Amino acid sequence: MSQKFNAAQLARNNVKQMTPYQSARRLGGKGDVWLNANEYPLAPDFSFNKKVLNRYPECQPAEVIENYAKYSRLAPEQILVCRGADESIELLIRAFCEPGKDAVMFCPPTYGMYSVSAETYGVTQKKIPSLSNWQLDLESIRANLADVKLIYVCSPNNPTGNIIDNAALKQILELAAGRALVVVDEAYIEFCPDYSVSQWMDQYPHLVILRTLSKAFALAGLRCGFTLAAPEIIEILLKVIAPYPLSTPVADIAAQALSAEGIALMQRRVAEIRASREGLSEALRQLSVVEEVYPSETNYILVRFTDSKSVFRNLWEQGIILRDQSSQAGLAGCLRITIGSQTENLRVIEAISAFAENCQIMETP
Ligand SMILES: Cc1ncc(COP(=O)(O)O)c(C=O)c1O
Repeated sequence: MSQKFNAAQLARNNVKQMTPYQSARRLGGKGDVWLNANEYPLAPDFSFNKKVLNRYPECQPAEVIENYAKYSRLAPEQILVCRGADESIELLIRAFCEPGKDAVMFCPPTYGMYSVSAETYGVTQKKIPSLSNWQLDLESIRANLADVKLIYVCSPNNPTGNIIDNAALKQILELAAGRALVVVDEAYIEFCPDYSVSQWMDQYPHLVILRTLSKAFALAGLRCGFTLAAPEIIEILLKVIAPYPLSTPVADIAAQALSAEGIALMQRRVAEIRASREGLSEALRQLSVVEEVYPSETNYILVRFTDSKSVFRNLWEQGIILRDQSSQAGLAGCLRITIGSQTENLRVIEAISAFAENCQIMETP
């Protein structure tokens, strides 16, 4: 062996150039108040009912699929379960996009994984910036549809927290008919269920919806998400999915979370988070360093600060970890804050108030 081993030389060209997604747990920091990943602040309790682990699990565990079908008021054939909505984003690209030929479209500022997954598979990205009110630029979408196979629309949108206008969504579905799938990412829809478009599926067979147990169901650590689509689309995704995407314990807990009792618990959590969100937003609006708290339909709020870098660093040093969004298109000065427990929300308000007071003292001659 005379030559030195160089893994990077063997990697695909597009992978060599990639920077990994800055997931919540990759960012580091010594936090004790984690408000950077839109998780639920408390862990729900479960017991394991299924203890037979010598056998492989079902590819699509029947109880999970049936419970989700009931919850979403769709047929079991319209549902695919996998390792989080992130895996759904990727499966769709793997199944529908020819690398180097086809494209995916999405509208920044939005969730980062559409871009990461497209990059991983060498699929062109068409980024159509949202309008200043964070609604979709329909004209530009229409003008750029050539070669697009998937249009990802995040509603409510991460990180801005707003719903995408349903009339605009219908227009995109009309534009895409016969040429592309429209993928509506409803990861946060439990916080505003009236806005779901899941009942449009009969009318639009090219509509795909992404869901997750990571947010309102308080199970980000479980890694379990759903793709809702026409049975023909689900069949295609089943060709490219791993043979055993969910472990037996994951399927066991997911089925419990989707029982009538699990859903009622989730709805109570949603009501509590929505109330805390309004309290936190109102308290932040009173602070001099806050320029704007944007309305949100989710479990996080986007806040524009006079000096977001300093606020972010100041809170980070106190163990309060927020998400810096200031490098996203149109979001200069913005931090995203997940709604935490009452104690955590109070810590955020106290820390930012203290920071604001300090700024005023320094400014006073
Ligand atoms: C909009 C959006 N879609 C998908 C996901 C991924 O969800 P999951 O944990 O199910 O992979 C997230 C996670 O933050 C998200 O914000």
